[in-house]
Parts: sequence; structure tokens; C-alpha cells
Amino acid sequence: MSSFLKIALPALALTGSAYAQSNSCSVSATKTIQNAGDATALSSCSTFSGSIAVATGTTDDIALNGIKKLNGNLVATDNSNMKRISADSLEEVDGSIEFDGLTRLYAVDMPKLKTVETIKWNALPNLQTIGFTAEVTKADNVRIENTALRSLKGINIEKADTIFVANNGYINEINMQLGNVSDSLTFADNNEKLAVTLPNLIWATNLTFRFIGSLEMPSLETLNGSLGLYNNGFDSFSAPNLTSIGEALAIVANEKVSNLSFPLLTKITDNLQIANNTNLTTIDGFPKLTSIGGAFDISGNMSSVETPELDSVKGAFNLQSTGNVTEACAFYKPLKDKKLIQGKYFCQGKLVDPSVAGSKPTSQGSGDDKTGAATSLSAVNGALGLAAMAAVFLL
Ligand SMILES: *[C@@H]1O[C@H](CO)[C@@H](O)[C@H](O)[C@H]1NC(C)=O
Ligand SMILES: *[C@@H]1O[C@H](CO)[C@@H](O)[C@H](O)[C@H]1NC(C)=O
Ligand SMILES: *[C@@H]1O[C@H](CO)[C@@H](O)[C@H](O)[C@H]1NC(C)=O
Ligand SMILES: *[C@@H]1O[C@H](CO)[C@@H](O)[C@H](O)[C@H]1NC(C)=O
Ligand SMILES: *[C@@H]1O[C@H](CO)[C@@H](O)[C@H](O)[C@H]1NC(C)=O
Ligand SMILES: *[C@@H]1O[C@H](CO)[C@@H](O)[C@H](O)[C@H]1NC(C)=O
Ligand SMILES: *[C@@H]1O[C@H](CO)[C@@H](O)[C@H](O)[C@H]1NC(C)=O
Ligand SMILES: *[C@@H]1O[C@H](CO)[C@@H](O)[C@H](O)[C@H]1NC(C)=O
Ligand SMILES: *[C@@H]1O[C@H](CO)[C@@H](O)[C@H](O)[C@H]1NC(C)=O
Repeated sequence: MSSFLKIALPALALTGSAYAQSNSCSVSATKTIQNAGDATALSSCSTFSGSIAVATGTTDDIALNGIKKLNGNLVATDNSNMKRISADSLEEVDGSIEFDGLTRLYAVDMPKLKTVETIKWNALPNLQTIGFTAEVTKADNVRIENTALRSLKGINIEKADTIFVANNGYINEINMQLGNVSDSLTFADNNEKLAVTLPNLIWATNLTFRFIGSLEMPSLETLNGSLGLYNNGFDSFSAPNLTSIGEALAIVANEKVSNLSFPLLTKITDNLQIANNTNLTTIDGFPKLTSIGGAFDISGNMSSVETPELDSVKGAFNLQSTGNVTEACAFYKPLKDKKLIQGKYFCQGKLVDPSVAGSKPTSQGSGDDKTGAATSLSAVNGALGLAAMAAVFLL
């Protein structure tokens, strides 16, 4: 079927240099592939400039062999028949690999791929492994949703702009060498046992984790954006090296968590929100926290809340608990009196239904600090967005 290949490959091998006989091909728009033969016809193009799209009705396996570099996108969408896409020589894609709605696809084999601008995969219910044997170590954007992947083995990037991995019900392990994430990283609604280990992550902008089983980020030092932990299954969370958060910190509805530890955290630029963590009775993991640029908003079952160094809260202050927080309120009230807490102040324990700032609590007894629930979080929009987002997700 491919006599051309049989002649071309030895010729290339003899040159001794991978790119010596490079042959560039280009198309002005998109080359559409209908069948295996169309793919084979491109095998003499070691560099292909332009995008390649696999036609919706293609039923053959597609092997884009011979192409080393693609200056464009590789796109396959809405194809319920194709089972396999491979590219035996592909090392670099200066564009995106976009697969969407390939219901029978079970193999993506690109054993030499190292660099790709964007990976955008959705609705691949039969894809269990990523056949990037050499491991992709450079990718700016990775978006993987609704696949049957078991892990992200094959994608091991050092830095990224955005990473979004959601609704992959079988992914139970993610361990990446990731150092920096300049925009956002989100792991949400994958397998609830998902164990995330990011040993080298030093700085990031927004980090969001929802429904994961365990999370380790031992090196994380700085967040330029927010950290959101929602509905996770871990019983403790620690950010041992984190010193500052550029936007908000939201820890919401993590039902088992009983220990939060932020030993070096000094500054949260926006809101601090801790709510609906049913098993969290003690909050003593903020020994160095001195300033909160937005609201201090903690509600739940705590009987002990300690932030011994806190001396500046620019927004509202709300502490509501089912437990006895008389001691905590005795610490915070003077801060309000000295105007170190600038927004509305509400601090009360022994409540039947403790709630977040802005909602009226249901009181059980008669407390002494009933100054009315803080009605607004005078904080920056971004962080409120994060909290509002959490509420929506919980509905
Ligand atoms: C991450 O950022 C830090 C500080 O900006 C830098 O020193 C380091 O080299 C970056 N790491 C990677 C993998 O880009
Ligand atoms: C924590 O931060 C310090 C100071 O920047 C650094 O020397 C240390 O290696 C970091 N620890 C980890 C586990 O990355
Ligand atoms: C964080 O944001 C500030 C201001 O927007 C910027 O100057 C700084 O370089 C950013 N740091 C990182 C690590 O992205
Ligand atoms: C709640 O936390 C305690 C430790 O403080 C732990 O022993 C217990 O198992 C936790 N309960 C749940 C339901 O996670
Ligand atoms: C909470 O976690 C921190 C950090 O992992 C640990 O040092 C501390 O002993 C834990 N506290 C409790 C009560 O388990
Ligand atoms: C307090 O704990 C009870 C019993 O574990 C739970 O039902 C309730 O939802 C918790 N309240 C909050 C605000 O976390
Ligand atoms: C709450 O705790 C304080 C001391 O921490 C104590 O004096 C007070 O009696 C307690 N209140 C209730 C209702 O248990
Ligand atoms: C972080 O996420 C929040 C909402 O989730 C958003 O409003 C904010 O702009 C993001 N910040 C950055 C720097 O991307
Ligand atoms: C906490 O849970 C209650 C009841 O499920 C919900 O109404 C509220 O929005 C939750 N709070 C947050 C901050 O998500």
C-alpha cells in the first residue's frame, strides 16, 4: 500500500541526520483526511505547515507517519467510528491536538511527541491511556474532559499557562513535574480517590481542586491568584511552604478535613473563606497570618479558631459556629475596636445554623456579640466570584 514509504525511509536513514533530507509541505488552510491513504500520502512531509483535520465520516485508523513537525493543528471531531490515531515520528506540534467526540477512539500513539502548544480533548469515552511514550514535557495549555483515562502518564510538563482536567471518572493519580502555572490549574470531578502530587510546583496563579482524594504541594511558595479547595475527601491539608496568596483562599465543603496547616502563610490579598467543612472543629493552622485584604469569613463547627498574628482585615469579619467561640471572639473584638478589622463585624458561637457572611444565622441561646450579620463582603470581585462559584457547584 505504501511503496513510497518503503523507498523514502531507508534514504532518510542513510543521511545520518534526522532533518538532513527534511521535506517541507504546506497547505494554505486545512488538509482534510478522509481515509488511511490520505494520511499515508503525507508521509514524505517531515515538516507540515497547515492544519490537518480528520473527516467526520472516516472509519480507517489514521497513521500520520513520517511527519516530524506540524506547524498547525491536528483536529478530529464528532467521529463515532475511528479507533486509532498515530504518528510514529511526530516530535513537535506548533498548534493544538484537538480530539472531541471520538466515541470509539481507544489509542493515540505518538511515541516521540515532546512538545505541543495545546492539548484539547473531550468526550473520548474509550480512551484509557495516552500513548505519548517519550512524554510531552512542553505544553502551554492542557484541557482534558470526559475521557476514560486512568492517569495522565505521558503528559509531564514543567510549566504551563492553563491546565484543566475535569470529569474523567477513572483518573485516580496525577503526578507531574510541573514547576509553574501562569494562569490556572483546575482538577475537578475526576475519580474521587484521585491522588494529586505536584512535588515541584513553586508558583501558580489560580489553583482549584474539587472532589479529589489527596493533595500534596510541598514546594508551593506563592500564589498570584486564588486557592480553592472544594468537596475534597482528604482529612488534612497542608501547604508547608506557601507564604502569600494574591487573591482569595476558599476552603469549602471538605467533609472530612480536620486539620488545615499553612505554617508560613502571612498574607491573603482577598477573602479568606472557610465554610461547610463539617469535621473541622479546630482552626489553628495559620500561625503567621497577619493580613487579609478582603473578608474574614469562617463558619462551621469550630470550638477553637486561632490566628494569633492577625492584625489587619480590610473587609467584613464573620465568625459563626455551632461550637463555643467565646475565646476567639474575645481575641477578635479588640481588633474591631481598634479598627484593625475595617468592615462589618459579627462573631458568635452556639448557633444552630452557622452561615457565611451576609446570611442571618439562627441563634440558639442569647449571645453577646449580636451586632447583626455582616451584609456585604467589601472585597474584590474576583474572590467573590470564587465563593459564588462554589455555591453554584454545590447546588
Ligand atoms: C518557575 O518560576 C521560578 C520563579 O519565577 C523560576 O525560577 C523557575 O525557573 C520557574 N520554573 C520553571 C520550570 O519554569
Ligand atoms: C521551601 O522554601 C524554601 C525557601 O524558599 C526552600 O529552600 C525549600 O527548598 C522549600 N521546600 C520545598 C519542599 O520545596
Ligand atoms: C504576580 O503578579 C505580579 C503583579 O501582577 C507580577 O508582577 C508578578 O510577576 C507575578 N508573579 C508571578 C510569579 O507570576
Ligand atoms: C473527623 O476528624 C477526626 C479527627 O479530628 C477523625 O478521627 C474522624 O474520623 C473524622 N470523621 C470523619 C467523618 O471524617
Ligand atoms: C496537622 O497537620 C500538620 C502538618 O501536616 C501537622 O504538623 C500537625 O501535627 C497536624 N495536627 C494534628 C492535630 O494532627
Ligand atoms: C456540624 O456537624 C454536624 C454533625 O457532624 C453536621 O451535620 C453539620 O452539617 C455541621 N455544620 C457545619 C456548618 O459544618
Ligand atoms: C464557652 O467557653 C467559655 C470559656 O472558654 C466559658 O466561660 C463559657 O461558659 C462557655 N459557654 C458555654 C455556653 O459553654
Ligand atoms: C482566579 O479565579 C477567579 C475566579 O475563580 C477569577 O475571578 C480571577 O480573575 C482569577 N485570577 C486570575 C489571575 O486569573
Ligand atoms: C454550605 O452549605 C449550605 C447547605 O448545603 C449551602 O446553602 C451553602 O451555600 C454552603 N456554603 C458555601 C459557602 O458553599
